[in-house]
Amino acid sequence: MQGLIYTILADMVIDMKGIPFWNEVIRESNVASKGAYTTGVQYDDEELFAIVEYLEKALELPQAEIIKLYGVHLFPILLEKMPVGSLEMSSMKRFLLQIDEVIHKEVKRVNPDVYLPEFQYIDPGKDELVMLYRSKRKLCPLSEGLIIGAGKHFNTEVTINHPICMHDGADHCRLEIIMVP
Ligand code: HEM
Repeated sequence: MQGLIYTILADMVIDMKGIPFWNEVIRESNVASKGAYTTGVQYDDEELFAIVEYLEKALELPQAEIIKLYGVHLFPILLEKMPVGSLEMSSMKRFLLQIDEVIHKEVKRVNPDVYLPEFQYIDPGKDELVMLYRSKRKLCPLSEGLIIGAGKHFNTEVTINHPICMHDGADHCRLEIIMVP
């Protein structure tokens, strides 16, 4: 994952628990970089998983909850850094439909080394969207958090059902999103 993902996580944890706690997280999770993250540099995914594993014990919260919380926090920061100038922002649904083929595609064009998840879409009707998520990282709770973050941005109430999950052995996660603008 890019250094940006780690620096934003560090900022969130420091905001919640302070710098000494973040130093403890880095020390105890034994990450190779020793927490010296730089935006634009790639770090092993294992570092993220080791940090989240330590946070699970220290905060007594399930990993999925921590990653989801992080996704909510991450969304407005990613949105601000978006490399795409002309996005269709007239509704949350239109925005979500652009993640795979417009936003992540542009992220990949700018930085070809980056690994990004794949999304396929099913459109069941007004104010609903199904997103099928596939990634070797199985970070479906991050997707959920980012979608909740998008809901806040668009002032839209969001409900997400997640009936099929890669963590249960499926080859994709099915995120059924209901949006009430
Ligand atoms: C609701 C909206 C979004 C969803 C659901 C989403 C989903 C994800 C997920 C799940 C990941 C983690 C990688 C993985 O699963 O393999 C990711 C990574 C990433 N996304 Fe998105 N994303 C969203 C919006 C955005 C936006 C607005 C940007 C703007 C630039 C963005 C740029 C990135 C970048 C830079 C990474 C990190 C890749 C890396 O360092 O390895 N995403 N996204």
